[in-house]
Amino acid sequence: MNVLGIETSCDETAAAVVADGRVVRSSAVFSQVALHCPHGGVVPEIASRQHVENLPRVLDEALAQSGLRWSHLQAVAVTYGPGLASSLLVGLSAAKALALRLNIPLIGINHLEAHLYSVFLAPDAPCYETACPLVACIVSGGHTCLVRVDAPGSYQRLGQTIDDAAGEAFDKGAKLLGLEYPGGPAIDRVSAGGDAGRVAFPRTRVMMSKFTDGLSPALCFSFSGLKTSLLYYLRDHPEAVQEPALKDVAAGYQEAIVECLVRGAQRALQRERVRTLVVAGGVSLNRRLRVRLLDMAAGLNVRVLLPSSSHCVDNAAMVAGLAGIGQGITGEAAWSLDVCPNLVLGKIT
Ligand code: KG4
Ligand code: ZN
Repeated sequence: MNVLGIETSCDETAAAVVADGRVVRSSAVFSQVALHCPHGGVVPEIASRQHVENLPRVLDEALAQSGLRWSHLQAVAVTYGPGLASSLLVGLSAAKALALRLNIPLIGINHLEAHLYSVFLAPDAPCYETACPLVACIVSGGHTCLVRVDAPGSYQRLGQTIDDAAGEAFDKGAKLLGLEYPGGPAIDRVSAGGDAGRVAFPRTRVMMSKFTDGLSPALCFSFSGLKTSLLYYLRDHPEAVQEPALKDVAAGYQEAIVECLVRGAQRALQRERVRTLVVAGGVSLNRRLRVRLLDMAAGLNVRVLLPSSSHCVDNAAMVAGLAGIGQGITGEAAWSLDVCPNLVLGKIT
């Protein structure tokens, strides 16, 4: 089955064609980063207007790369949440129009679930079903959560951030350090060769369940205090935004984020007693995070599944792929779907 995927939840305009949930025939992404960069973050109005302007071209590109014709497509899958409402709306409207015109099914996809599925697009990855049960750690610019997966579509939320997402912590930290947007790749690059132990940044542990929406505090994250401590550090050490101090401060800041994520994932693995860890979302590109995760997992005899680099940040292959294995909202329910900016992944049990 050839599924056309559409993804416009934030600032990437993406379309892809995936066969049978696994074979990526094409994946076109128009990144708006250069347009948002001067503003130091994503401007929703610019993002939605850019989706409107670029989606037709991106769709044509995805189809041309796939070597297929419109008539060869068997379904249209689209992200309907979570994300920016005005951005999601562009993709959802386009997907409905296309599916109607082509007279093929429409499939609504949860963006977080698609990120999770991105690891199963790697050529050497196991199939989703046999990899379960697993713990997934989704780390992106807008989300940070830990989820137990017993089968595709069967999610139990274990933990989440109570304030900033990990990617947001990277982006905001980079801004304070005078680095460009997006901050994750910038901090990753600047930290290389830095001494992460030179500045001690706090590793915040969530202690009270008051803020955790019924989740175990031990499996929740908080990054806003870390960002404030960087602000105060830079106020007292203004020279730290320049080399040679910059790489040490960036490395220390990165290490604090990475350590919180690794410890959270470790606690979830031990509590759930599962042997597979999925890590996905833009922050899963972080080189230090990958090293520390693999190290931790080796100690627990746990296998780690990571997306290939082109599938870490937002893309439509993960959307089309997930729909291709039979997941997502279909039938009448799909046609009446509205965007869900605050959609979550999984129930709390
Ligand atoms: O998954 P994604 O493309 O979009 C969301 O769904 O939010 O993730 C974007 C986030 C940004 O915050 C960006 O700074 C972060 O992923 N990111 C990284 C790296 N590459 C991208 N964070 C840390 N290290 C990286 N190498
Ligand atoms: Zn994303």
